[in-house]
Amino acid sequence: MRKINLIHLGIGNVGKALVRMILENRKELKEHFGADLNYCGLFNSKSGIFDRRGFSIKQLKQFPADSRVEAKLAVDEVPLPFILIDTTASDKTFPLLEKALQKGGYVVLSNKRPLAGSNEQFKKLHSFGNRLFYETTVGAGLPVIRTLKTLLATGDDVSEIYGCFSGTLGFICSSIEDGVSFSESVRQARKMGYTEFDPREDLSGADVGRKTLILARMMGMDVEPDDIKIQKLYPTSYDGYTVEQFMQNIDKLDKEYQDKIRKAKKRENTLRFIAKISQNICKVRLTKVAQNSNFGSLKGPDNMIIFKTKRYSDRPMVIKGPGAGSEVTAAGVLGDILTIVRVV
Ligand SMILES: NC(=O)c1ccc[n+]([C@@H]2O[C@H](COP(=O)([O-])OP(=O)(O)OC[C@H]3O[C@@H](n4cnc5c(N)ncnc54)[C@H](OP(=O)(O)O)[C@@H]3O)[C@@H](O)[C@H]2O)c1
Repeated sequence: MRKINLIHLGIGNVGKALVRMILENRKELKEHFGADLNYCGLFNSKSGIFDRRGFSIKQLKQFPADSRVEAKLAVDEVPLPFILIDTTASDKTFPLLEKALQKGGYVVLSNKRPLAGSNEQFKKLHSFGNRLFYETTVGAGLPVIRTLKTLLATGDDVSEIYGCFSGTLGFICSSIEDGVSFSESVRQARKMGYTEFDPREDLSGADVGRKTLILARMMGMDVEPDDIKIQKLYPTSYDGYTVEQFMQNIDKLDKEYQDKIRKAKKRENTLRFIAKISQNICKVRLTKVAQNSNFGSLKGPDNMIIFKTKRYSDRPMVIKGPGAGSEVTAAGVLGDILTIVRVV
């Protein structure tokens, strides 16, 4: 039985679901994959536990603990083979990820930020051979990254990628199409937990921008965050507001969105927040699409990614389904871990 040590950063929604999934399926993972996934470290930003021999289930269930072991120490001391898992939403984990790869470990991310900073950082993380996995950074549990990797590795020419990458903005677009005002759609999305506490995190398009950047870089484009043209769904002047002030002022945008959707519907169109990667240009914007098109028929928080390639030119390849949720994301992260288990 091969023992594979795990150091896990970020025990939030996705992290907790992943720990539970690994513990609940430990027996099956041993039987089917011949691997013992051995948790040696768990870390949040203010607490952390580490034991190079690994923890019992009882000890793991007691996390978060008072203990404040540094994650850096865990990466220094954990024996090979090991996997460093990053399910944080932090932009500060890059040095640890680099250290883990330098030491010969594997890295699995659901956190987009280390791949969506500078291009130099993206390239650095990819410079250690095939030991970096990040399936869930785009489309959560949907097989987006591995599909793109396979297309590229088999010599297909990927000319364009289009995507509705945000469940939150998908929900809002569907909702205004159904006649709900923009402000009410945002309120509902917030109440249902689709948006971040500050809805501008979603409405600014920043998260979609990060996903776009990752795919564009995988396609070989040398793009920096500022190269992505992102349309915000609110005026820049609203950036100065507190969350409360922002929520009080979004009603003022209702008329604009009502007009936009009315004009679109007149011609049997609707509105979707679409990322487009093509010929070295990356754009993320609210786009008019035919109601009966692929994107137009997308409902609620589902994601859709369309690959137009040399092989898939007349009828592009379409991937569609739930693109968020801690369970599907944790399962995608575990899928990456199992890919590693097969080769270690
Ligand atoms: N939820 C989804 O559907 C989904 C889908 C695809 C991808 N993702 C990505 O997966 C990541 C996790 O999402 P989530 O919903 O689980 O977020 P979350 O609930 O906010 O959890 C993030 C966790 O990371 C911890 N953390 C922050 N900085 C850290 C650091 N420097 N070192 C160690 N731990 C740190 C936080 O701990 P503290 O409380 O101590 O700060 C928190 O427990 C995000 O990057 C998200 O974009 C999520």
